[in-house]
Amino acid sequence: MDEVRLGVIGCGGMGRSHMGQFAAIPRLKFTAASDSFAANLKLVTDEYGVQGFETGEELLDSGLVDAVLIATPHYFHPQYSKAALQRGIHALTEKPVSVTAKAAAEVNAVAEAHPELKYAVMFQQRTLPRWKRVKQIIESGQLGELQRMLWVGTNWFRTQAYYDSGSWRATWAGEGGGVLLNQCPHDLDMLYWLLGSPSRIHAHVNLGKFHDIEVEDDVTAYWQYPNGASGVFIATTGELPGSGHWEICGDRGKLSMSEGKIEFIELSISSRTFIKQSQSGFAKPEQTRILIDPQGEAGHKLMTNNFINAILDDEPLVAPAVQGVHSIEIANAMIMSGIQQTTVDIPMDRDAYDTFLKDLIEKSGVKL
Ligand SMILES: NC(=O)c1ccc[n+]([C@@H]2O[C@H](COP(=O)([O-])OP(=O)(O)OC[C@H]3O[C@@H](n4cnc5c(N)ncnc54)[C@H](O)[C@@H]3O)[C@@H](O)[C@H]2O)c1
Repeated sequence: MDEVRLGVIGCGGMGRSHMGQFAAIPRLKFTAASDSFAANLKLVTDEYGVQGFETGEELLDSGLVDAVLIATPHYFHPQYSKAALQRGIHALTEKPVSVTAKAAAEVNAVAEAHPELKYAVMFQQRTLPRWKRVKQIIESGQLGELQRMLWVGTNWFRTQAYYDSGSWRATWAGEGGGVLLNQCPHDLDMLYWLLGSPSRIHAHVNLGKFHDIEVEDDVTAYWQYPNGASGVFIATTGELPGSGHWEICGDRGKLSMSEGKIEFIELSISSRTFIKQSQSGFAKPEQTRILIDPQGEAGHKLMTNNFINAILDDEPLVAPAVQGVHSIEIANAMIMSGIQQTTVDIPMDRDAYDTFLKDLIEKSGVKL
């Protein structure tokens, strides 16, 4: 195979945005599209001259595609990923990989039974050079052992009109959550990618605090990592001007981002060692401040390009979708903890979360 025949399932905002970049991706041949909403499908078949299908299954059975990009609402992601892999078709899914960790794990089982197929997720933040540098600092041991994490993601401001723009949005039945499922998957993946999963979560979750929606639009959670390190995660779509601020502290220094600038303050010696050894009550080890600002291209196009290269050249995937189960599990744990006012251990009881979500859907006034 010297080119990949790609189909797209879901021709809404994101699906069409991806299509706009296909011409710049070598060895990608856009051949088919599917959307359950005829007007959106027509926009695409008219513009690109590709074959259109009403359902994703028809597209997958058409013989026109070697790979598929899934850009439907979240609930359909695992269904179509699984359907593709079971037919021998590579799958690149939009984030999140699913709405529940249980559904993600079910697709992972199919993916693991098909190691010859590529299964990737659109976590394009991983391609940003500065994030790669942050990961390198953590993995090299330069930051030392994790002590504390603070993540303030309150710059996701959305109006009611945004939530009213699609009947699936911000409903338990259509989206399975609010800010944690729609805006935060990139943040949660980044935290998983850099630090691994926390082992315990206690969250405060407000449902429809700022908007007329039934799901969460305001979250403050305490996380505990397996080594005892603490984390605080804050997210909302109702704050202005909002903050995009974080700190990751180890015993050898601190990585932080404020006003878009990332810096690393490196200690000359472990603070834990210094606490024990110093003879002075107020002494501090020497600190070196390093600005982290590597430039370079990043984004969706790079991810689709990587997916094509993975299929044709076996290039390692930037974001293997089997890893997506972790960020969705963290989101599930925060929602369950916040609504039930309990502490949730991770790995969590995934069957219990499924039952809990079904119950929320049943009690909800919104039916799709
Ligand atoms: N990676 C990113 O940065 C990023 C950014 C925005 C959105 N997204 C993700 O992309 C996905 C789609 O978001 P959007 O903003 O494009 O939504 P959207 O509502 O604009 O588009 C969704 C499209 O899917 C179609 N659809 C619904 N059910 C379908 C089905 N069963 N089969 C085929 N088509 C179906 C709808 O008719 C619609 O055209 C979401 O999961 C979202 O999280 C990712």
